[in-house]
Amino acid sequence: MFLLKSKYPEYYSYQGRKISKKISISKKNLVNKFYNQISLDREIIRNHESANISKKISLPTNFNKINIEIGFGNGEFLLKNAISYPDELFIGIEVYLNGIAKVLATILNLKLKNIILSNLNCFYFLNAMPIKSVDKIFIINPDPWIKKRHNKRRLMSFKIIQLLRSIIKSKHSIYMTTDSKNYLEDTRDLLDEYRENFGEYNVGIMSKNDKLYGISKYQRKAIEKGEKIYLLTF
Ligand SMILES: C[S@@+](CC[C@H](N)C(=O)[O-])C[C@H]1O[C@@H](n2cnc3c(N)ncnc32)[C@H](O)[C@@H]1O
Repeated sequence: MFLLKSKYPEYYSYQGRKISKKISISKKNLVNKFYNQISLDREIIRNHESANISKKISLPTNFNKINIEIGFGNGEFLLKNAISYPDELFIGIEVYLNGIAKVLATILNLKLKNIILSNLNCFYFLNAMPIKSVDKIFIINPDPWIKKRHNKRRLMSFKIIQLLRSIIKSKHSIYMTTDSKNYLEDTRDLLDEYRENFGEYNVGIMSKNDKLYGISKYQRKAIEKGEKIYLLTF
């Protein structure tokens, strides 16, 4: 993976906060040895480089459902899902390398066979997914980028929403949670503006009984501060 990353840095770069490149030797060895076995990065980059940008990846066919989590952080929710639903495939996309290494270690320890990991900027992965192939997509508390001048770094752009909508099988299966009212409103504005393309959405404030409440480190940090957690489904 490190070879791919140094040869094709553009696929791994993204508009965001600087992520420490420091990774322990043991984690680096782990990634070097096992990452390519459970990632499709090579195939995705190869397709792009061969000017066949629209060529889609082939996915394993032995799972009942295909789910994606974008920006899984330390992988808590991704792993919990994969353990709870062994008949479903979970694709985790995360640019934070330490998160990838951490999840990889657990996958190997628990011998999980239903996770695919990607360290790519999610745009490239989503672009390579077959149309209407995904059952559920989760985006749990994406970086809020509160300052106006940083808003353009946000994950939820027209381009990404368009991709998400094209690869999902049915409506209301894309779940985004956030503690940022401003991020929520801006995403709603995008969905409203392009309602004809993106369809209807639902929005609400989650409570303790909601399945997606308190499921990640970032969410719990916000909850401890007394913030509301919003759920947007489209
Ligand atoms: C605020 S953190 C939330 C992490 C986790 N979902 C949680 O709630 O604890 C957002 C995560 O999204 C990842 N991320 C941001 N932009 C991304 C992109 N374009 N592709 C993949 N991951 C991305 C970041 O590396 C970061 O780990």
